[in-house]
Amino acid sequence: MPSVQQAVWDTPAAAYISRPPELSVVVPTFNEAENVPLLVARLADVLAGVDWEVIFVDDDSRDGTVSAARRLALADPRVRCLRRIGRRGLAGACIEGMLASSAACVAVMDADLQHDETLLPRMLRSIRAGADLVVGSRFADGGTAAGGLSRVRHRGSQLAVQAARRLFGISIGDPMSGFFMVRREIFDAVAPKLSTHGFKILLDFVASCRQPLKIVELPFHFRARQNGESKLDSLVVLEYLGLLLAKLSGDRLSIRFVLFALVGASGLLVHLLVLQQALALDLAFDWAQTGAAYMAMTWNFLLNNQLTYRDRRLSGLAALKGLATFYAVCSVGTIANVGVATWVYGSQPSWWLAGTAGALMGVVFNYAASSALTWRRN
Ligand code: GDD
Ligand code: MN
Repeated sequence: MPSVQQAVWDTPAAAYISRPPELSVVVPTFNEAENVPLLVARLADVLAGVDWEVIFVDDDSRDGTVSAARRLALADPRVRCLRRIGRRGLAGACIEGMLASSAACVAVMDADLQHDETLLPRMLRSIRAGADLVVGSRFADGGTAAGGLSRVRHRGSQLAVQAARRLFGISIGDPMSGFFMVRREIFDAVAPKLSTHGFKILLDFVASCRQPLKIVELPFHFRARQNGESKLDSLVVLEYLGLLLAKLSGDRLSIRFVLFALVGASGLLVHLLVLQQALALDLAFDWAQTGAAYMAMTWNFLLNNQLTYRDRRLSGLAALKGLATFYAVCSVGTIANVGVATWVYGSQPSWWLAGTAGALMGVVFNYAASSALTWRRN
């Protein structure tokens, strides 16, 4: 009698092949356990008659989001779930989910029911009719964001949209939307250029896509969040600035490096302020300068931990250890900085050229060393 394994080998491959669905809906999740079943029920409702699947991409939430998705998957094979361990980040989660799909179309939408799922069939029809990208827009005529955005965030979003328009000639009305559908092969082609950092995957996609895209925007009403709380804080504005600068550099600089350098520039201001205050208090210059340097390093550490490395954020004892390695890295960085500056000054006695070269050396060194030591991936 043939073994089970032999029987498996002897079965023609075609017997196992099930074709991918037409549409994968990728849903990034972080602590959305209560919303997951609600969303799946709504998808099943509005996508009746469509061959679809949903892929939850969870960053190891503590509230049982993965179990909630797996429970549903037992009864419904259209529900899939990727559990990512030791990583955080909305853009990276969306990219990974989209790459896990073999469907012809992929949509991305939030789990918290802020995005209007009834738009999905219309989005799909637009793609079938030839669109490459369909954007659920809060700002197109007929769309609103009043329910889901505070006034400050609404204004901030609009400023961000204008900046994106000016800098990249991006014509979509809502490039910050987290609700869109795209042909998968186009996404696949652009994927290697995308940053996994931050929130702005759609803007990144459009800015990184070399070929002209046929884009359709469909207005929708951005609802208030159902359960749980938003994971976006005011620091995303700075992250956005990082994305714009990284794109302006033609991707030669990573967002993380841009953020690190911006934080470093703010640290210089802190340094000068503290130095001025300390000298006003009649402290000896060398003590004042040392104190200012440590204040600036501490400031840089805290800000980098909140912003630049938010996906690897250290807390508790690990944060203290991180601060110690950061001091060490910056001290060596200062030696590198002074060494390079002195060397440049020797051959070209221009103080600003030597100073800038030294500072650049310092920031590059500090960035490389702190990402390897202080915020290393475990
Ligand atoms: N896997 C994963 N990892 N998912 C995440 C993470 C993360 O680090 N952070 C947030 N999410 C998930 C949430 O669980 C939710 O499903 C979705 O991403 C959106 O997160 P929210 O925290 O609800 O963001 P928001 O409502 O403040 O922001 C939305 O609107 C912005 C425009 O104002 C999002 O759609 C953004 O993409 C959009 O730019
Ligand atoms: Mn939300």
